[in-house]
Amino acid sequence: MIRRLSILFSVSEAAPFIKEGGLGDVAGALPRALEARGHDVRVILPRYYAINPDRHGLKPLPGILVVPMGIMGEIRCGVWEGRLPNSGVPVYFLEHEAFYGREGIYGSGNEGFRDNDNRFVFLSRATLELCRMLEFAPDLIHAHDWHTAAVPLFLNTLYRHDPLLGKTASLLTLHNLQHQGSFYPGLMDVLGVGWEHFTSRELEQGNRTNLLKGGLYHATKLSTVSEGYSREIRTPEFGWGLDGVLRERADDLVGILNGVDYTEWNPENDPFIPARYSVTELSGKGLCKQELQRRFGLPQRPEVPLFGLVSRLVKQKGIDVLAAAIHRIVELDLQMVLLGSGEPWAHFYFGDIAARYPDRFRCHIGFSNQLAHEVEAGSDFFLMPSAFEPCGLNQMYSLRYGTIPVVRAVGGLNDSVENFNEQSLTGTGFKFRALTPDALADTMGWAVWSWYGNKPGIAGLIRNGMAQRFTWESAAQKYELLYYEAVEKKLGKDESDRRFPA
Ligand code: ADP
Ligand code: GLC
Repeated sequence: MIRRLSILFSVSEAAPFIKEGGLGDVAGALPRALEARGHDVRVILPRYYAINPDRHGLKPLPGILVVPMGIMGEIRCGVWEGRLPNSGVPVYFLEHEAFYGREGIYGSGNEGFRDNDNRFVFLSRATLELCRMLEFAPDLIHAHDWHTAAVPLFLNTLYRHDPLLGKTASLLTLHNLQHQGSFYPGLMDVLGVGWEHFTSRELEQGNRTNLLKGGLYHATKLSTVSEGYSREIRTPEFGWGLDGVLRERADDLVGILNGVDYTEWNPENDPFIPARYSVTELSGKGLCKQELQRRFGLPQRPEVPLFGLVSRLVKQKGIDVLAAAIHRIVELDLQMVLLGSGEPWAHFYFGDIAARYPDRFRCHIGFSNQLAHEVEAGSDFFLMPSAFEPCGLNQMYSLRYGTIPVVRAVGGLNDSVENFNEQSLTGTGFKFRALTPDALADTMGWAVWSWYGNKPGIAGLIRNGMAQRFTWESAAQKYELLYYEAVEKKLGKDESDRRFPA
């Protein structure tokens, strides 16, 4: 029998309400998988301007939430309640016009909002005040990235002796260590926890208040979204200055690979794609390819290998390396489609490449879930040359769609893709190690060569990939064990055993 936990997710995005990247996918899917295992799971996030209460059937909760913001005094907000679709998971949305009543989640264009410090400290503190308002005492609060990294800090300080929350454990999941929520020192006064926490052990980093660092110090347990990344971030190359802190907390840090929501990403019943297909009946994939070529204005050549890429166009994703390699790449007999947005230079640069090589390369600058599905289904290969990749979801979607991933061997990409072995005909994709234009172009060259010259090898890769499953059920089981460990660490073994008899 399951020992039922109550868990509150405090997070900055959750699909289908709002999503900018994989974090939204995770926060939309993992709570459902945990609920299916019998836990009481809830989610809190801001009611961004883009979240339409009518469309999602949100209802206002009675009352006003009063959130202390240190030196700024008390700030009030409303709360909406909804549900994650196809579940009973309650989702609470903070309604605050000045903080969230604008276009964008984190910023506009490529610039972060100037008041992101207040916007996300508010979300973190409101998480705890909402518990009080609802008289909900979660066993554990699951915080994500810097946006809610202040939750563990608050639990350990201001709420340490709180009758309701004094025994609540915390887990901080790192989806991306590059962004740390590093702000001016005086943010300490807004946090209101006392300047004694502004030390190099806790929140101070480079004479700034670093919210993620505070979370790393205070969270009961830490996790990342792949095992590979959990090891990498303990090294200076991937640690973004926090590798020392992470080495100190290595005993409390684990990696759990994200899952895929196969109700959304499945070529057998995907409503977004022009034809459905499966591993035993692949002809629909050919139609998807034809349609993708038409959509992007490429010549309709069934025999040519088509590479897809769907990504935020930022350095993390290796697009600078792709840009440097592109002239070599377009020399190959291939086609490529790119969907994404991000760095302004990339919009211009890839647009220009498309104009120069219209038979080989096309791009769509923007965000479109519909097109993302079409690219997954219609491409033969999927490119992810990331500089670092905590998990990455598209390579796992690609496997399911019979679209062979070509990835850099880092983080979750390395954990979820097995390199092609031409002798044994095993593997699920093509991997390269060096983050250089030549390594990328050479590996794409190997993929193209295999496409034309090693048909059985390619067929094997497609078959092997389509058989892979990265389920949220399996990830949820691992999170559940981690939650138990966190609760036990927080309460002590005896009390934890009393509270959750085996
Ligand atoms: P990250 O969170 O670092 O951006 P992930 O691979 O974890 O990377 O997740 C990215 C998610 O966002 C995937 O679901 C992907 O399909 C989606 N995505 C990224 N860019 C776009 C885009 N331009 N249009 C539609 N979906 C996109
Ligand atoms: C981050 C990472 C990505 C990961 C996602 C969800 O955005 O960049 O690799 O898949 O979070 O965990």
